[in-house]
Amino acid sequence: METKVYRIKDIEKDFWAIDEAAALIRQGQVVAFPTETVYGLGANARHGQAVDRIFKAKGRPNDNPLIVHVSKAEDIEPLVLEVPPETHALIEAFWPGPLTIILKKSGVVPHETTAGLTTVALRMPNHPIALALIERSGVPLAAPSANTSGRLSPTMAQHVLEDLSGAIPMILDGIYPCQVGLESTVLDMSGENPVILRPGGITPGMLREVLGHVDLDESILKPADPRHSPRSPGMKYKHYAPRAQVIIFKGSSLKRMADKINEALDKYLGRGLKVGILATDETIHHYGQGRIVSMGRREEPATIATGLYTSLREFDKAGVDIILAEWVEEKEEGLAIMNRMIRAAGFQVVDTTQ
Ligand code: TXA
Ligand code: MG
Repeated sequence: METKVYRIKDIEKDFWAIDEAAALIRQGQVVAFPTETVYGLGANARHGQAVDRIFKAKGRPNDNPLIVHVSKAEDIEPLVLEVPPETHALIEAFWPGPLTIILKKSGVVPHETTAGLTTVALRMPNHPIALALIERSGVPLAAPSANTSGRLSPTMAQHVLEDLSGAIPMILDGIYPCQVGLESTVLDMSGENPVILRPGGITPGMLREVLGHVDLDESILKPADPRHSPRSPGMKYKHYAPRAQVIIFKGSSLKRMADKINEALDKYLGRGLKVGILATDETIHHYGQGRIVSMGRREEPATIATGLYTSLREFDKAGVDIILAEWVEEKEEGLAIMNRMIRAAGFQVVDTTQ
């Protein structure tokens, strides 16, 4: 199959491309499109066979449910049993934006979309192309990140093409890299208490301001306990991974962390390996060998979120064997950054604080 890529410079002038994409969606096809977090691979969420095409194109395990994207808050109503009052407040505060809300699903959402769960994940993305596509399709769009399952989420159309060229009919190219750069916060509002299942751009502090209290799922920074079935099935897979092995270093000070990374660097270079260093603007001067990349500024963790996947891809391009990565403080946006980094590392963390 040929994969068409349409560059959308001016949403009004290039509306014909969105119309063509919407026509594909109505025919039960899949289309990749930009959102403010990462690119999504969308299909009609109410159509089981269309949704199956997403799973096939990505090679995604079919026990991993999808997020349903809407262009207007009221469009969630037919998809759910009820909208609890606190959920209205969340929608008011954070939609459109990087917050996915899980509610009890109604009968119109097919089991393919929710992987057989009784709940459905809902989000209104904050991107004009995504909103126009949903609107023109006239249906809610089930959309996971538009990457091959287990790989890094795409933040540019080129990344989607690298993974899915020939497997999908169309990519809408938003030209600019996705602003948030990490997938949305997933918040479960279907139980007694709100629980963050996956941290993202809407931070625990921002949610607490609206809800008063929010719990964090215990597997955010560690592997899910295999004795329980995970609340967010996606979190159990090795995820968000570049090709190289990743090892994270945690230190009592930035200097100590860098010293330990330099020690490991010498060891791996001595073995003839190609080594990458994932540093930050504040620490990059500590390093002098290997391929050194800054993921952003510690002072402003949102810049690290935006740059993380692009940095990891740079190492893949350079053919690096092993990436030595710095720990970032796991508060606010830092929690989402470490949630993804720890999974990219397969939970390998060297703690040098003792
Ligand atoms: O920012 C995003 O959320 C992007 C863009 C495209 O919107 N989408 C995205 O989708 O990251 P995906 O499929 O890569 O991740 C969805 C996550 C998975 O971890 C999945 O297990 C979880 O949401 N999820 C979806 N429905 C769920 C449900 N009903 N209950 C619990 N977790 C759910
Ligand atoms: Mg994904």
